[in-house]
Amino acid sequence: MKVCLGTACHVRGGTRILELLQRQLKIKDGETTPSGAFSLERVACFGCCALAPVVVVDKDVHGRITSTKARNLLRRYGGS
Ligand code: FES
Repeated sequence: MKVCLGTACHVRGGTRILELLQRQLKIKDGETTPSGAFSLERVACFGCCALAPVVVVDKDVHGRITSTKARNLLRRYGGS
């Protein structure tokens, strides 16, 4: 999962989303879960700032991410 921390996304809560994902996945930015299902990476800007905060999973862009949406992404892509 790539979490945008560019200016627009940072201002609109991207850092909180990254922190939540780190807690939920029990990994830090730049790491991969033991199962290999998720890795976390911070990115400077995806170029779709109007959708901030933005998370990209595989090639899918997810905009206006809230903590609920972030948890849903983990469920959807984690297969649980
Ligand atoms: S700052 Fe996040 S998409 Fe531009």
